[in-house]
Amino acid sequence: MTTNSVPLPAPPATDTASAHHLVPALARPALAGPTMPSPVAATKTPTAPGPANSAAQSTATATATTDAPSPNPFDGVDQLDLLIRARYPVIYTVSWEESRVERHLELIAAKRGKALFTWSVTSGLVRAGTPGKSVGGQTDPVDALTAVIEHKEPAIYLFKDLNAFLRPSMPCNRPAIRKLREVSRALTDSYKTLIIVSPLLEMAPELEKDVTVLDFPLPSPADMERLLDKIADDVRGNPAFIIDLNPRGKASLAQAAGGLTLQEAENVFAKALVNDGQLTGNDVSTVFAEKQQIVRKSGLLEYYASSENLEDVGGMSELKGWIKKRSAAFTDQAKVFGLPAPKGVLLVGVQGCGKSLCAKAVSQEWKMPLLRFDVGRMFSSLVGSSEENMRRAIHVAESIAPVVMWVDEIDKAMAGSQGSARTDGGTTARVMSTFLTWLSEKQSQVFVVATANDITQLPPELLRKGRLDEIFFVDLPTESERRRVFEIHLKRRKRDPQTFDLSALALAAEGFSGAEIEQAIISAMYDVFDLSRDLTTPDVLNACAETVPLSKTMSERINGLRAWADGRARPASPIGRASESLTGRRKLEA
Ligand SMILES: Nc1ncnc2c1ncn2[C@@H]1O[C@H](COP(=O)(O)OP(=O)(O)OP(=O)(O)O)[C@@H](O)[C@H]1O
Ligand SMILES: [Mg+2]
Repeated sequence: MTTNSVPLPAPPATDTASAHHLVPALARPALAGPTMPSPVAATKTPTAPGPANSAAQSTATATATTDAPSPNPFDGVDQLDLLIRARYPVIYTVSWEESRVERHLELIAAKRGKALFTWSVTSGLVRAGTPGKSVGGQTDPVDALTAVIEHKEPAIYLFKDLNAFLRPSMPCNRPAIRKLREVSRALTDSYKTLIIVSPLLEMAPELEKDVTVLDFPLPSPADMERLLDKIADDVRGNPAFIIDLNPRGKASLAQAAGGLTLQEAENVFAKALVNDGQLTGNDVSTVFAEKQQIVRKSGLLEYYASSENLEDVGGMSELKGWIKKRSAAFTDQAKVFGLPAPKGVLLVGVQGCGKSLCAKAVSQEWKMPLLRFDVGRMFSSLVGSSEENMRRAIHVAESIAPVVMWVDEIDKAMAGSQGSARTDGGTTARVMSTFLTWLSEKQSQVFVVATANDITQLPPELLRKGRLDEIFFVDLPTESERRRVFEIHLKRRKRDPQTFDLSALALAAEGFSGAEIEQAIISAMYDVFDLSRDLTTPDVLNACAETVPLSKTMSERINGLRAWADGRARPASPIGRASESLTGRRKLEA
């Protein structure tokens, strides 16, 4: 059983699984790209006549009459029922919640008058309701799959961990892979369905046409409310525990628990209850603390505690204005007003000029948590399949929304996507297309701040309108901006900027990035600390004179970047500012 104490596994990267739609509840044939026909279309061409057909056609009605109707008619739960009725022979459900999938299948089996069998490598094939009694002792997956073909009665077979026998990297898996293909063919003309359940999607590519993949969705707020009712029932009559939940408190707890599995939610509600003997709407903070755990376990996202706000950013008044204007964008009032939730921004620009700083400041300004998405780690085999990682990161971020998702140095992650078919079998390209699809279809309140400085690595798809709200170009600071950056960093180091000649400093630091200005101050402070005296303007001027800014050594690249940004990106600082040439000579006002 999957519980929240199970560490996330790090299996060998297989990366053979599908390029996914990132609409989690949609089923799709394995390895299908975003252009594959929808599963609904697929149900129009069932192979067998009879009840399966008519059942498939009545999907809409069935969906509408479930006790917790989902706003999405293709909710994964109903989708599973639909696929079974439409006689999809092999369905791969991706879920951490094995027992929830099993319970759901029990309901479907009962409703459809079918038997339910479960299989695991430890207990073999067991008829539901008869725990411990294997029907034939088939702990070997190939034997169990053979039994599935031979059985005559209409049935659903839930295979746990079968994916371990479907990884292409191990030659010993060949028999199971072949057998599964035979099962797929044999079951097409039967009333039997084989369901694989696993939190990870991994299988040999040759199974792509035989297996349909379905993301089993995490519990809905309605599921969570039912869980809270169950907990209230369980402790009723026990004077040690008080459940004090009015409908509003219940709804906010249920909402806060979004993104947790049912087991995780049960654990966290129990923890809140045991903590002080009460479960109330105020326990939302306990639930959020539990979510931080999930983020940590995902290994790709980290909560980033930042204290920087927009006041700490020198210059970039255009960008700052844009951010400030949207500070109420995720409120209910904005929604009622008809405003769509902002999707995100891309900050492109010169190194050390404050792109990452701005990403952190957005979260402070909007009072939303900041999640840093480590794209580099995503491709590391240590954290499992890259595609699975991307899906998981998105799932986790959405469950925490509203949130700012900071994708730092996205250009580095994108670097492999061009020519990826040659270098890594297309993995990088698929992962990126998953991300881009999510970006353009995103309805959730996840605001993406991506940063980049190598525009040659950015795929045109990312720059296309609609993916992000705006692309800002962050250039080297102008003279007045440098003055402000000096002021910020002197103040940060407990010096009174008024006692410095800021104009002289700003002039001396021509061509410096914000990071270089900061470094010049730090270096001067080391000098005077050594001499046991305090910092003065000449000390900082000396440090500036000793610095060779990147803009000198990389002038060509920076000019190239400026040329690219012209007309493609919006300047982070006001247009018409005095732009300075990298050789030190001043150009006229633009
Ligand atoms: N405009 C600025 N105002 C104040 N501080 C700045 C500014 N630009 C840079 N800094 C200082 O330099 C540090 C490094 O900048 P930051 O990491 O944000 O640059 P970047 O644009 O993300 O660079 P890279 O492209 O190398 O990632 C910041 O933490 C901040 O202290
Ligand atoms: Mg950066």
